[in-house]
Amino acid sequence: MAHIIATANMKGGVGKTTLTVNLAASLAKDFHKRVLVVDLDTQISATLSLVSPHDFSKLRKEKRTLKYLVNDFIQPLPQNTLPIQDIIKPYIGNLKGLDLLPGDLELYDEFMVSEVLHRKAIKLGKDNFQEVWKKLERILVEGILQPIDKDYDFIILDCAPGYNLLTRSALVASDFYLLPAKPEPLSLIGIQLLERRINQLRESYKEEYPINLEMLGIGFTMSANLLNGRYYRQVMKRVYEDFGENRIFKTRIPIDVNVSKAVDSFLPVLLTHPTARGSKAFAEFTQEMMEKLNVILDMKQQKNKLNLVNLE
Ligand SMILES: Nc1ncnc2c1ncn2[C@@H]1O[C@H](COP(=O)(O)OP(=O)(O)OP(=O)(O)O)[C@@H](O)[C@H]1O
Ligand SMILES: [Mg+2]
Repeated sequence: MAHIIATANMKGGVGKTTLTVNLAASLAKDFHKRVLVVDLDTQISATLSLVSPHDFSKLRKEKRTLKYLVNDFIQPLPQNTLPIQDIIKPYIGNLKGLDLLPGDLELYDEFMVSEVLHRKAIKLGKDNFQEVWKKLERILVEGILQPIDKDYDFIILDCAPGYNLLTRSALVASDFYLLPAKPEPLSLIGIQLLERRINQLRESYKEEYPINLEMLGIGFTMSANLLNGRYYRQVMKRVYEDFGENRIFKTRIPIDVNVSKAVDSFLPVLLTHPTARGSKAFAEFTQEMMEKLNVILDMKQQKNKLNLVNLE
């Protein structure tokens, strides 16, 4: 089954999407993994980093975007929605193993969701609104991805800034989360706010559905210009004190104009300019992530073995 990783930070513009698409590209290209990028943000930045606006508009006309899967999940439609396998766009950049589940400018209608859930709650009995809401949050993203879970090694969920229904549902469905951040106070506050929300999420599900969500780490993006400054060092010191060395990626993603320019070619910089500074950093970051992942998976395996021994 795929490792599901959510890329999230409450703060906007910290490099979540850029990290998502380059990480996915490196996993497919350098590690020969089967990777799916899921665009959960109505800004559709991940989608437009991987397909042209012209292709995107065609996909929308053909109803090949996540929106149709979300709406069908919330309220199954009389006319058939395409299955997820037909909505996924494979071979991004002609690269075997790099696929995209395209996002949309609107992903769900809040009013419609409330109405459907309200009706369900009435059917179930008076005070059940919270229960049906929580159930939708728990199963929405997981349910959409379930049919293709076995087709991938990694599914990377590009979350919108903030903490909307899809972000919460993505976190509940994920095995891991990555926290991209800029080395600046507001970006770090974004991490702390998200950490608090994730703890609340864990708490609220711990009775009936304990969630197995682990932080893969905090990755610093766009940090080059500040690297040697005193202010930068102070900010970094605070992060190390607050989160501990183990949770922070050693690889920093520098500011590199090639990274933002790559969006014009509708491909990640790692594919358009593999030798650019940014690309090398993304490849190194991916290598570090794979090492972190292997350590975590080894630890989990050891723990399971111990549990088995205890049972015997
Ligand atoms: N390493 C980099 N060097 C130069 N520009 C970068 C780099 N990383 C990201 N950018 C640029 O910074 C902007 C914000 O990046 P990105 O869209 O990845 O952030 P985000 O956290 O996903 O934003 P949002 O919260 O709006 O979803 C984009 O224009 C992107 O091209
Ligand atoms: Mg984004």
